[in-house]
Order: sequence, then structure tokens, then C-alpha cells
Amino acid sequence: MQKITAAITSVGGYVPEDLLTNEDLEKMVETNDEWIRTRTGIVERHILRGEGKATSDLVVPAVRDLCAKRGIDPNEIECLIVATVTPDMLFPNTANVSCDKLGIKNAWGFDILAACSGFLYALTTGASLIESGRYKKVVVVGADKMSSIVDYTDRTTCILFGDGAGAVLLEPNTEGFGVLDSILKSDGSGGKYLHMKAGGSLNPPSAETVARKEHFIYQDGQPVFKFAVTGMADVSYELMEKNHLKSEDIAWLVPHQANKRIIDATARRMGLSDEKVMLNIQRYGNTTAATIPLCLWDFQSKLKKGDNIVLAAFGGGFTWGATWVKWFIN
Ligand code: UT7
Repeated sequence: MQKITAAITSVGGYVPEDLLTNEDLEKMVETNDEWIRTRTGIVERHILRGEGKATSDLVVPAVRDLCAKRGIDPNEIECLIVATVTPDMLFPNTANVSCDKLGIKNAWGFDILAACSGFLYALTTGASLIESGRYKKVVVVGADKMSSIVDYTDRTTCILFGDGAGAVLLEPNTEGFGVLDSILKSDGSGGKYLHMKAGGSLNPPSAETVARKEHFIYQDGQPVFKFAVTGMADVSYELMEKNHLKSEDIAWLVPHQANKRIIDATARRMGLSDEKVMLNIQRYGNTTAATIPLCLWDFQSKLKKGDNIVLAAFGGGFTWGATWVKWFIN
């Protein structure tokens, strides 16, 4: 029997219209455009504003975009996986809510919570459903409304994050295209450096947790930076070695967009020049689970069938990983 792989057959994306620029942030906290650009590479981010708007409102247009490009009805989707740290609610899951908003009646789905590595965890999970032979159309979305958990009085975090969603459709392939290998890792001892303290079963929401601002992101930037630089670079290199991929075999690095300096370090370790690195952090900031699919969405016109691309991420948990994809779409 021929081996089934999960090919990416369509890509969708969505970012809200409202912008939050470095100049806007200069008026909100003690910061400046020069600091933000040189330390992170970010110039502006998109923010989902308005009453009653949630992460599912980012997921829905991204999935509609993907379906329109592939020429399918959303009801053909069999399983929807949403990677997010900002679900609409703790339950029901955002995949559930999104299916309802999309009018999807025949799919099941679930959320995956793995912070900035969420998309890679979800892509690997979605790919195994296709590889099992049981499913023909699985959609994997990375989506986060980071503005809902950012403290806009904390200059160390509020300059970093933005809102957005990116989605890919996975379908079976027997010619060797699609998700070919992943190395995924986690280390829970890193949780102390990057987390949201309250809102879960450990510290349920209360007036006190709100007063202590424990429903916002907490990040100790320097240790996270240190672990991210080595973690993302090492795992990408490990994936190359394991699959006998040389720098010249790789067409694109698709890195999580947290900090341009982390991305540069990973590209150097892999022996890749800047022209082979997808970068859109300047326009979106860090959209957590959405960064990697939003890169694919932005750069799709540059990708060619057969290109070897390496997706790499590092984030809260710590979670990190790298995935090798052979591009299918012409
Ligand atoms: O995606 C999930 C994983 N997250 C990451 O990968 C993020 C990893 N960390 C980072 O990217 C970086 O640590 C940051 C961009 C968050 C911070 O950059 P840094 O070079 O590590 O800066 P720092 O925290 O060491 O701060 C340097 C200085 C400090 O001032 P002093 O103590 O040297 O006087 C900060 O108080 O910059 C100050 N600072 C700021 N200044 C202007 C911190 N935030 C700001 C700001 N504007 N927004």
C-alpha cells in the first residue's frame, strides 16, 4: 500500500483592520519606536476591536478564505483543530464555536493549547489523522486574540503582541508531498518565565486575581529569549540532520515571529541566507499560534511545488519544535 502523507492543499488567513502602531504605543507607555524596532523588529500589529468579538471571529474568515481558494464548501471539512491560548471561553472549545459560526454540521474538532508552538503541535496532530487513512479533509488553524490578555500598561509585553489567524487544509497525498517529519518538544520547568497565572483551576478568577492583574500575560523576557534562541535553532538543525537535509535543500524557513533576533539566529544555525526566511513580524507582531500560518498566507505566491520548507517555533511551556513540509500547491 502506498504511504499516505498530509499535503497542504489550501492556505487561508485573516487579520483585523484596526492597527496599533509603535507611535500609538509611545502615547500609552514609556517606550519608543526605535527601541521596539531594534529589539524586536515590530512596527505595527492588528487588533480585533469591538464588543462580542473573540478568537472564533478570527478563525471564521481564515477558514472561509481557505475554502474559497480550494473551491470547497465548509461542510466538506471533517475535522477542525484550533491552536490557541486565547479561546473564546475555556469551554466549549473554539473549534466547536467556529464550526457553528461557519455552519459546519458534519465535523468534530478541538483546541490545542501549546502557546507559540500550538500551530506545529496541531499540524502534526492533524497530519496524523490524514496519515491514518480515516480522514480526507482536516483543517488546522492557529488563531489568537492576544489583545484580550495583554496588559496595555506593561511596556515589556504590550509592544510585542497582535491578533490574527492562519489556516491550512490537509488532504491525503501519495506522491510524497506534505508534512514529512516533525520534532516536537516541551519542558514544563520553563512555565515560570512565561504564563498567565490566574483563570485556571490553580487560581480561579476572583476579585483578588483581577486586582493583581493575574489574567494578563507575564513574561520574563531575557530567559525566554535565551532558551528560544538555542531551542529553535537546535531543533531546526536536528530536523535537518535527521532527514539529511542540507542548507541548499531548503527553500524556506517559516519561523515563529516573536523576535527578529531569534529568527536570525535560527537561520544562521541552519546555514540559510535572509532571502530564504519568511518574515512579517514588522506588520503583525507576535500573534502566538497564528504566526506560522500567517507567514504561509503572506508568502504563498513565492512558494513552488516541491519546495522543502522548515517550520520552526518556540514558546510558552516551554514548547518548541520544527516540522518539514514538502510544498504541494503549484
Ligand atoms: O513568543 C513566545 C516566546 N517569547 C519570546 O520569544 C520573547 C523572548 N524575549 C524577547 O524577545 C526579548 O527579551 C524582549 C523583546 C521581550 C525584550 O528585549 P531585551 O533585549 O531582552 O530587553 P530587556 O528585557 O533586557 O530590557 C532592556 C532594557 C531595560 O532597561 P534597563 O534595565 O536596561 O534600564 C528595560 O526596562 O529595556 C527596557 N525596556 C524598554 N524600553 C523601552 C523594556 N521594555 C521596553 C520598552 N520600551 N517597551
